[in-house]
Amino acid sequence: MSHNVDLGVFLPVTNNGWIISKNSPQFLPTFDLIRDVCQRAEAIGFSYAFSMGKWRGFGGNVEFWKYSVESMILMAGVANLVPRLRLIASVAPALINPGVFAKMASTLDDVSGGRLGINIVSAANELEYSQMGLYPKNFEDYRYEYTEEWLTLVKRLWSEPSVTHQGKYFTFDDCQSFPQPVQRAIPIVCATSSDRGFQFIADHCTDGFFGGTTLESKIGRSRRIKEVAAAQGRTVKTHTLIMLIQGDDDADAQRIMDHYLAGADEDAISSIYQKRSGTKAESRTSILRDRFENDRTRIFYGGLPVVAGPERAADMIEKLVVDGGLDGVMFTFPDFMRGLERFGNSVMPLLRKRGLVPMTRATDAG
Ligand SMILES: Cc1cc2nc3c(=O)[nH]c(=O)nc-3n(C[C@H](O)[C@H](O)[C@H](O)COP(=O)(O)O)c2cc1C
Repeated sequence: MSHNVDLGVFLPVTNNGWIISKNSPQFLPTFDLIRDVCQRAEAIGFSYAFSMGKWRGFGGNVEFWKYSVESMILMAGVANLVPRLRLIASVAPALINPGVFAKMASTLDDVSGGRLGINIVSAANELEYSQMGLYPKNFEDYRYEYTEEWLTLVKRLWSEPSVTHQGKYFTFDDCQSFPQPVQRAIPIVCATSSDRGFQFIADHCTDGFFGGTTLESKIGRSRRIKEVAAAQGRTVKTHTLIMLIQGDDDADAQRIMDHYLAGADEDAISSIYQKRSGTKAESRTSILRDRFENDRTRIFYGGLPVVAGPERAADMIEKLVVDGGLDGVMFTFPDFMRGLERFGNSVMPLLRKRGLVPMTRATDAG
């Protein structure tokens, strides 16, 4: 049976990507790097690139995430350099008026020839917003309600000639936004691990993304998201995030992992833990605590680290897709260019052989 798993790359829009170690590749999120990553991802047969929205770093010796580039502008820059990839850009509704954003997104949808998707970031990480005075008092209690009103307005502007609205958070008076998007409906995605977030996906999104520190927890989340959507009479796709540490074989990958572990930046790790656990949204989940108490994953900001040679990497993807029913897997790598190249040469052929991706490479087709 063929599955056609949707493979994506989580673009390195922040310095050093997702590893908090002095021994992992150290890099800045330059446009040159991101363009090259997108082009390589497309060439090896990935179907989408996803850029997160991030507004503040965490310090430490490696100055973790001090540098971050803006998601919508970045995607506009790469759009015409990768003609096939779907591009998922992120927006935090707390930061921008829905009328302004509706036009930015329809412009970018045109620039990209109708390949845009939008990731809605419901402002869980308070410090990013409070530094700008844009995290109202008790926002945690109503951020999803605010996001729903915001998104409903954006969608209406994309499809109606005029929007007049007197709501709890926004007032629109004969607001108009043309041109409307090239795609009749720009896909909306959300990355979340909470029940409230799953309900938001069921009500408003085409796709749900999530982390999770074991394959089992990922499969559980995917099932839950699909169940909540089904109860609403909807079907949504699910994707998870994997940090892939590849080696020639499992032992070689483990040797690389041990090197990163030996360079763990304890200052940055404790700063991240303190800052994130100090926010109401994140402290209520056990995920954060699990991660910081677990030696194997604490040097990673997000995504299950899979330390594997090609066969085991393919096994893991197969398990998620075939046993778990996930629709997509999105990857980060320690060094994105080398990681994608290795993946293209050694894991993609296995996925093709196992019927998980089409036999024809994207490059052969076009
Ligand atoms: C694939 C993926 C993409 C994410 N993108 C962003 C992002 O762009 N900006 C951000 O601040 N957080 C991002 N996050 C983090 C989560 O959205 C966020 O911390 C939290 O899980 C939100 O869940 P909640 O709203 O249910 O509390 C991402 C997480 C994952 C797994």
